[in-house]
Order: sequence, then C-alpha cells, then structure tokens
Amino acid sequence: MSERRVGTGLIGGGGIGELHLKNLLEIPQAQVVAVADVNPEVKRAADACGARFYQDYGEMLEREALELAVISTPSHLHRDPVLAAAENGASIYLEKPVATSIEDLRAITRAVEERGVKATVGHQNRCDPRFSALRGMAMSGVFGRVFKVRAESSTGWGFNVTPQAWRWRRALGGGPWWQNGGHIADLASWVLGEPLEVAAFSGTYVLKTEAEDNLVAVVKYRDALAELATCYCLGVQKPVGLEVYGDKGYGAADPLLGFRAWLNIGVVKGAYEPEVAEVQPHRRLMELTVDALLNEKAMPIPLGAGVKACEVVLAGHESAATGRAVKLPLL
Ligand SMILES: NC(=O)c1ccc[n+]([C@@H]2O[C@H](COP(=O)([O-])OP(=O)(O)OC[C@H]3O[C@@H](n4cnc5c(N)ncnc54)[C@H](O)[C@@H]3O)[C@@H](O)[C@H]2O)c1
Repeated sequence: MSERRVGTGLIGGGGIGELHLKNLLEIPQAQVVAVADVNPEVKRAADACGARFYQDYGEMLEREALELAVISTPSHLHRDPVLAAAENGASIYLEKPVATSIEDLRAITRAVEERGVKATVGHQNRCDPRFSALRGMAMSGVFGRVFKVRAESSTGWGFNVTPQAWRWRRALGGGPWWQNGGHIADLASWVLGEPLEVAAFSGTYVLKTEAEDNLVAVVKYRDALAELATCYCLGVQKPVGLEVYGDKGYGAADPLLGFRAWLNIGVVKGAYEPEVAEVQPHRRLMELTVDALLNEKAMPIPLGAGVKACEVVLAGHESAATGRAVKLPLL
C-alpha cells in the first residue's frame, strides 16, 4: 500500500461522526485534517484529533484541499454538504440514508456524476462478515433457489429519544423505518437484486410519536420476496438480522441467536456454524474507502445502492400511508 495519506474532513461531528473520527484516527493511511459542525462544542473533538475546526463546512471545503469528506449531518441535511464537497472536488463518504426526498436523491446523484467525484454510502452492514458470508453462500448456490430474504432491525432506541429530536420526525429522516429500514433494504437488495415493488403497514403502538414506532414491509423482487421489519419500541436490542431462504437450505445471522446455516442436500445435514472473523463494520467500511481512494479502486458501496435503499424506504412510507403497493423505481 502507498505511503500517501488521504486528507479527510468530517462534516457533522455528532454521535456517528465521533465514531468516524475514532476510526479515521486508527487508520494509518488516513489523516483527519479538519472537522466542521454548527455546534461549537464539537471543536473539542477536532482539537483532540489535532484537526482544524470550522462551524461552516463551506469554508472548510474551500480552504482545505480535502481528498475525502465524511458527511454525517442529520439525515434531512445531506444534500447541501454533498453538493459542496463535490463542487470542491472531494470524494464522499456519505452516511445513510443518502437523502430523505426524491429531489435530494436526484440532486446528489447528479452532483456526484457531473463532478466526477467518488462516493460511497454508510451501509456498513455489508462489511459485517456474517452478512457477507450469508450473501456469498446465496450467490454460490449453496441455498439453491433463493426465494425469500427476511431482514429485521428492531430496537428500543426510541425510548431514549425525545419526541422533538429529528430522529422522531419522519420528514427529517426520523423513526425506525428511515433510520434502519434503509440498512435492511440494502441487505435484501444485495442478495436479491433490483427491488420492484413495496407494500407496507405501519403504526405507533407503544410510543406516541409523529413517526411510526413499528413498520413491516414486503418488497417484491423478480424471483423472490423480502420481508423487512423495523421498530423502535422493542424491549431488547436486535440491531440487524438477516435470513436467507432457499429450496436447498436456509441461513441466518441473528443478533441474539447467532449465525447458523442448515443445508438439505438430499438428507438434512444439520446445522453448522461458519467461522467468521470479528470485524467492526464501520471501521472496515472506512478502511475500504480510504484504500479505494489510495489505490484507484471502486468505492466499496456504490452511491446507487444507497439511492435504491432510499427508494424502498420512501415507497414503504407511501404504501403505509395510502394502503397501496408502490412500484419502483421512483427516480
Ligand atoms: N450507518 C449507521 O449505522 C449510522 C448510525 C448512526 C447515524 N447514522 C446517520 O448519520 C447521520 C448523523 O446521525 P447522528 O446520530 O450522528 O446525528 P447527531 O444529531 O448526533 O449528529 C449530527 C451532527 O451534525 C451537526 N450538524 C447539523 N447541521 C449541520 C450543518 N449544517 N453543518 C455541520 N454540522 C451540522 C449537528 O450539530 C450534530 O453534531 C444521520 O444521517 C444518521 O442516519 C448512520
């Protein structure tokens, strides 16, 4: 690997931004040059990294010749930092969801294409070895004809969020379906391909919030269905789980029950537990992003995959509101 380091600026140093800073500091090929956040208290985090601090990300992008901008502003505030980063020639690590409206998805896609910058999306679950092992088994035909994927992200995170915060306001990218639905939609499409249609129901059963606290969707693919479920009011944490159903076997990576596969090749061979390495997916995705920039490789998770996940989320909300299935693509 080359000795050059990727000069990086962070935009949005809140919860996940702090983790990105920690990971960047641990990656020798990355250099944290600057941090931008409207909240002046974030300067402390910038100081701790020896990075310059800006309250205006536009100023940061103009002054610093950044190779990579890591964007982790609240979900409804992704478009303008992306446009500014692309305008200044910085490649982009964009937190999911790419955007919360069709207009912003279009503007982001156009800016990245027109400026010719590289972009990747924070769907770090693809870097979780349990999920990539399951997908690998599905792709290599071990499960036979895969006809269904189930993916769930159900947590009690909503209990800790004040209802006024952006995380509970649907238009701002709040609620479990915006926050976690994109992650599981991305995993389903990673295994099954192009999503074609979405039908969903949602409700606020436990927490009296503006956004739903519970949403279940069915996504139709060419030869398969995906069942996707998210909630924010579960009494335990089940952050992300994936199950793959085929006519020759079944595999599951469940946050509570672990990782197992059952194969039926003539006779039931029983369950076995594939060995997977312990990897921190956010850290791995950042490493792959830095490596892609240094060594002229494709970015690990294409922008188009993040856009596709947003389309499933938008269609799910529309279906839950109208009672009708919604055909994709929306863009
Ligand atoms: N990939 C994942 O698993 C994962 C996990 C958590 C959050 N996220 C995503 O990351 C994003 C941020 O989430 P969070 O939990 O860190 O939110 P947060 O509210 O904790 O942090 C957001 C930060 O952005 C700052 N900010 C707001 N407007 C800004 C602006 N105009 N310029 C610069 N900074 C600005 C805020 O002051 C805050 O520090 C969201 O899109 C969320 O969906 C992804």
